[in-house]
Amino acid sequence: MSHLITRWRVRCQRPVAYDIVCTRDLFDPQNPALLSAGRVEGGRRFVVVDSNVDQHRGEEIRAYFAHHGITARIVTFPGGEENKTLRMYLSLLGELDAFPIHRRDEPIIAVGGGVLTDVVGFVASSYRRGVPHIKVPTTLMGYVDASVGVKASINFNGSKNRLGSFEAPQRVFLDKTFLKTLPHRHILNGVCEIIKLAIIKDAELFDQLEQHGVECIAARFQNFEGGGILERAITGMLEELESNLFEENLARKVDFGHTFSYGLETSPDAGLLHGEAVLLDMLVSCLIANQRRLLSEREVERIFGLIERLGIAINPRVLDAELLWQSLLERVEHRNGLQRVPLPESLGNCVFLNDIRRQEIESCIRSLNDRVGKENEAKLEC
Ligand SMILES: NC(=O)c1ccc[n+]([C@@H]2O[C@H](COP(=O)([O-])OP(=O)(O)OC[C@H]3O[C@@H](n4cnc5c(N)ncnc54)[C@H](O)[C@@H]3O)[C@@H](O)[C@H]2O)c1
Repeated sequence: MSHLITRWRVRCQRPVAYDIVCTRDLFDPQNPALLSAGRVEGGRRFVVVDSNVDQHRGEEIRAYFAHHGITARIVTFPGGEENKTLRMYLSLLGELDAFPIHRRDEPIIAVGGGVLTDVVGFVASSYRRGVPHIKVPTTLMGYVDASVGVKASINFNGSKNRLGSFEAPQRVFLDKTFLKTLPHRHILNGVCEIIKLAIIKDAELFDQLEQHGVECIAARFQNFEGGGILERAITGMLEELESNLFEENLARKVDFGHTFSYGLETSPDAGLLHGEAVLLDMLVSCLIANQRRLLSEREVERIFGLIERLGIAINPRVLDAELLWQSLLERVEHRNGLQRVPLPESLGNCVFLNDIRRQEIESCIRSLNDRVGKENEAKLEC
């Protein structure tokens, strides 16, 4: 006799669709874009603004909502990885709960870098089991990466992005004029993610960075070529994300640079920004690829040459083989039992490796230290 008496199967498919819209001067009162989603008449908005953005654009942002008769609760939030915490998440939830908004037609608006959009995305995904939110990235990292996908997270228990959710934004507004006030180090931080895409999937983007990268960085991407590079980077990023939005497939090209960087980024001694840690990871990965004859010596030289030309200083002294190995082991848990480390196979193509050995990491760290000239080290010391 069977023990199975009755069984119900619940199946549901939930469509996901959101637009990423390029606009200029988002907070110009004549620009209707930001209020194109949600209720305007009698409307309210809970708006979280990065504190540095608030200094530069706060008045304009407040004037925008006042002009449109929107009751806006503007909360400022300090950027920086140290604020991607449970405490800041709960404090935002407290503020939100004290300012009621409709569950469906008064989207939360997040205006800031990747830290802010990650925390606010997670707030939006958990408040009332999910309320709509709009992302407005103000850093290059946010513009090409953090804001365009559906991942939202906070750091927890000493680990990066350990708590979070997949929550699609209602809309993303890209306004590159925000980058005008972004400090140089943070411009380079975002450039590292563009380099990632170039190496792992887009050789043409790599050429463009070689040709125009220097002028784009100087112009904070406000120039014509800068626009082209940003558009190409976002298109490439979305190609990878869209087909695997909820990471059913754990072998992801966009994880290039995101294996060994995991521990580096949380190491307080290293003092690295996300993109800087990703860059060091990419260089170690490229050297592994070179040792495995996936990447030629000439291609490795082009990669190092590009980084030098763009003025990105590298400090391989923060690389510790044990730390990198432990990061890899942690990623094996995250990637469900296999390393699945993306490595370039010639510029612009990707393969996944599952058999990287600790010894290989050690020898590539040594090789990286040898390659990075004394000149670069001198730059770092000043
Ligand atoms: N969700 C994702 O898919 C995803 C993808 C990539 C990165 N991330 C996350 O993004 C975070 C890094 O983002 P980030 O580099 O933008 O850091 P961030 O949000 O800390 O911003 C960097 C700094 O720039 C300041 N700032 C922001 N906009 C400014 C502007 N327009 N002018 C002047 N200053 C400005 C901030 O106050 C902060 O000091 C990491 O936590 C990373 O994990 C998430």
